[in-house]
Amino acid sequence: MRTQSMLAVMILAACGDEPREPADRSPCSLDDGRCIFRYDTFGDEQLWTDVLGLHELVQTLPPTTALAVGLKVDAAAVPADVLASADLDDPATTVALVGLDAVVGVRGTVVDGRITRIGVTCALCHSTVDDAVAAGIGARLDGWPNRELDPGAILALTPGLPSFTASLGFDHGAAVAALESWGPGRYDARFNQDGESFPVLIPPAYGLRDVALETYTGEGPVSYWNAYVAVTQMGARGNFVDARLGLDIRHSPDRVTPMLPALRDYQFSLEPPAPPPGSYDVAAAQRGKLVFEGPGRCASCHAGASFTDAPALHAPDETSASADEARRSVTGMYRTTPLRGVWQHPPYFHDGRAANLDDVVEQYDLALDLALTEAQRADLVQYLRSL
Ligand code: HEC
Ligand code: HEC
Repeated sequence: MRTQSMLAVMILAACGDEPREPADRSPCSLDDGRCIFRYDTFGDEQLWTDVLGLHELVQTLPPTTALAVGLKVDAAAVPADVLASADLDDPATTVALVGLDAVVGVRGTVVDGRITRIGVTCALCHSTVDDAVAAGIGARLDGWPNRELDPGAILALTPGLPSFTASLGFDHGAAVAALESWGPGRYDARFNQDGESFPVLIPPAYGLRDVALETYTGEGPVSYWNAYVAVTQMGARGNFVDARLGLDIRHSPDRVTPMLPALRDYQFSLEPPAPPPGSYDVAAAQRGKLVFEGPGRCASCHAGASFTDAPALHAPDETSASADEARRSVTGMYRTTPLRGVWQHPPYFHDGRAANLDDVVEQYDLALDLALTEAQRADLVQYLRSL
């Protein structure tokens, strides 16, 4: 049996020829945060299908191209023998994978070999895979930021972008240039609000249980930000009200608010990944801890079990950060980034201005005028790799 027809049979088995859920209902129960994180579009098909036409784009992409813009395939959703024989140069394979819910963070409805509805979920940006089958294909790693995903490039390719930019009153050419400039792993969650473009790195969604404020600029607790992103970025049908931002968005039914508690609890359950065995020098890390707490002065801000003093916030010049992102936020400040699992997600700082942890330490040595010795800097790096 040819791969395509095997996939086609499976899709029919999985979805029939009817959309799996009506647009006003979640596929997940109210207490299933993992399902919400992975599969709930909150009705955002109204943006991704009706306005942006993402389904038209996706069904022309061979899997090789989809993987190249950072989309990930959940190998568990596709039987291994089917995956092994799938034609990764054929857009029909992409359609089949979407129909199987195998494209991480993308949910589509496939009818007669075409995608008729498509939406995105939190997992699009905040999950990746372990590459166990091939690059971009493997088991889901929820909470790990997808630093290969290029949301700007994907948006720039959507056929409906001109009408979307027109609805925002943006110059289309300038908007496309901004989106194309973001690059992999970066997204600007204020671009459609203020028209400025200062993309930030997609952060991890793990290790947040004891972190008082979320986002680089500490806008609010986790559910505040989840609602902001769902409603103002993903295009969810839900409510988001914040007088500080002049936003009062309401939909009926509200598909977001009832989901927030379970979604928060699921994020809080995501532990940071332990450093791989042998990835750091244990003795040097122990010495580095003393530098972190002593002459490095790191622990004065990176305090407590999660390594952050939030809800305290810091002015940009305290860490020699660019003021651009803080200026656009309601706080005007930066939150001390929690550090558990920091080894996992280079580059660093909100704008990626440090390529690796050595760079981080170099930059602090200058910014805080620490005059650390070379040995102290090296030990500090080993300590950071151990968190
Ligand atoms: C298009 C990519 C994208 C999608 C989709 C997305 N996020 Fe995010 N998320 C980001 C970016 C970028 C930031 C950083 C924003 C900032 O700090 O200004 C962020 C920040 C966060 C944070 C704060 C992390 C921290 O350390 O403070 C959490 C938590 C989060 N997102 C959860 C979610 C949830 C839950 C959803 C689904 C409702 C979601 N995100 C959808 C890109 C995305
Ligand atoms: C004055 C408070 C303060 C001090 C002192 C401080 N930090 Fe930070 N740290 C922050 C803030 C605020 C950020 C976020 C800055 C940004 O994203 O631009 C940050 C970000 C970081 C990051 C990036 C994490 C990520 O996920 O991108 C690392 C790593 C880090 N700090 C390590 C250290 C080390 C090591 C020291 C000591 C040499 C130190 N910090 C000292 C406040 C501080």
